[in-house]
Amino acid sequence: STIYILNGPNLNLLGKREPEIYGHDTLADVETSCAAVGAPLGLSVKLLQSNHEGELVDWIHEARTQGAGIIINPAAYSHTSVAILDALNTFEGPVLEVHISNIHKREAFRHHSYVSARAEGVIAGFGVEGYALAMRRMGTLLG
Ligand code: DQA
Repeated sequence: STIYILNGPNLNLLGKREPEIYGHDTLADVETSCAAVGAPLGLSVKLLQSNHEGELVDWIHEARTQGAGIIINPAAYSHTSVAILDALNTFEGPVLEVHISNIHKREAFRHHSYVSARAEGVIAGFGVEGYALAMRRMGTLLG
């Protein structure tokens, strides 16, 4: 089965963008580490990134028929997007939310995430390792 790993705006610049906050690893590195965790669990990964809210909504709809679970870092849309929450509410499998930084240690506007109301679990502040940890958890939730 396939796990969709969805990434929101500005994460295409991961590795170059504010490395003191988000580190030096890229999304390609995230894909490699998640594929390595998933393989022995029988899980493949489809990692996608968009700077456009509606495209993320479309991929969540695609996951309704093609995906067993969703790992999502909605980035700034975490704090604004009812549309992404509503889309995730149409998905029947497990949803895990990942933030590379600890959003609770940062500005107050980052403390609330709409997506958390749908997520089975949330990882924040573990750096890009959070994605691999979420893959491990997917193995448990789907196993
Ligand atoms: C982020 C945290 C968000 O507040 C921010 O807008 C991001 C990345 C994280 O992974 O730490 O773009 O989701």
